[in-house]
Amino acid sequence: MAISSGPMAENSSNGVVFSPSAKARVAELIGRYPRKQGALIPVLWLAQEEFGWLSPAVLDLVAAELGLTKSAVLATAMFYTMLYKQPHGRYHVQICTNVSCYLLGADDLVRVAIDALGIQPGETSEDGLFTLEAVQCLCACERAPTLQINKKDYFKVKPAEFQQLLTQLQEEGLRLGPSVGWPGSDNGGAEHAEAGHA
Ligand code: FES
Repeated sequence: MAISSGPMAENSSNGVVFSPSAKARVAELIGRYPRKQGALIPVLWLAQEEFGWLSPAVLDLVAAELGLTKSAVLATAMFYTMLYKQPHGRYHVQICTNVSCYLLGADDLVRVAIDALGIQPGETSEDGLFTLEAVQCLCACERAPTLQINKKDYFKVKPAEFQQLLTQLQEEGLRLGPSVGWPGSDNGGAEHAEAGHA
């Protein structure tokens, strides 16, 4: 069974705080802009690194740091797919299925991922290790088919190579566990961060 992506649950909890190092980074980011609200996207990005995903409580925290309303922060977060409104797996597998990649075998790569991970595009594996997505152009059409795992790009990917890569990541993931923010992970979740940094 997999966990589907969907609209963010409506709830909020207070008291989530940045770690001291992240707090210093927030101040540095704010200092780059004439108005602190200008730092919204980099601070959201930082918050995602810190907490794993942008829970309602984390959005509240960002809003408070920048003197913005939560609705303004939420509107920006909702616009960017790279900002997670749901917990994501340790490995975020994005396969381009746009024209160039489609013509050169993207469907085969999607099928490899579905078979290997047991989830469909838009889902996260129950163990919190993998989130699979079929995405639009990754801006490397001349090196299609293309995919991205976390921040790393892979070009001219062959199904057998991809299968091998996923197997390696599955083995690594079993050692490392789910990513920060995944419910039940050792150091995951805004609630855990709150307890650790208060
Ligand atoms: S169509 Fe896949 S990278 Fe552009």
